Amino acid sequence: DDPRVHDIKTKIRVIPNFPKPGETLLPVSIYNLLAHICSLCFDDVTAELSGSTESFVLLGIEARGFIFGPPIALAIGAKFVPLRKPRKLPGEVISEEYVLEYGRDCLEMHVGAVEPGERALVVDDLVATGGTLCAAMNLLERAGAEVVECACVIELPDLKGRERLKGKPLYILVEAH
Ligand code: PRP
Ligand code: MG
Repeated sequence: DDPRVHDIKTKIRVIPNFPKPGETLLPVSIYNLLAHICSLCFDDVTAELSGSTESFVLLGIEARGFIFGPPIALAIGAKFVPLRKPRKLPGEVISEEYVLEYGRDCLEMHVGAVEPGERALVVDDLVATGGTLCAAMNLLERAGAEVVECACVIELPDLKGRERLKGKPLYILVEAH
């Protein structure tokens, strides 16, 4: 067993009644984890990719993907590109709507942020239904990029989000039930 997993599980806080009383739809808070894991949790991914001679673009998904994405991008020498919620990016964008456990949302990417043929890694904190990662992958496909891998800290495997990732590899560190 990976000794990191035990440490990290002790730092995941379960919060009932969120986002509404009586509902526990996305019941984990990652904030206790952040200081502890930023340097730890993607070391396998960074070791694998920093040894590659190929260059990557690394997409971080607003908001929590912005915490984990940039340190990995720096570690592997990738260009960091933010995928943002609607009406945040000032330039021309492409948009992709998706369904979350508690409503609809949309991700946007600047036109030209990713070049056709670029190899892309998508980073977020958590995969639940997979709708968010799927929307990110759709944006990248539309821009002509090739998604190499998705990487998240936590997977909620009961929600089967992994099945929506178009057969691409998903790196995760811990499962939460
Ligand atoms: C949360 C989480 C993931 C997403 C996972 O984001 O950070 O991005 O849900 O859910 P899914 O696999 O069902 O799509 P959310 O948009 O709720 O909030 P954030 O802006 O704080 O990241
Ligand atoms: Mg998010």
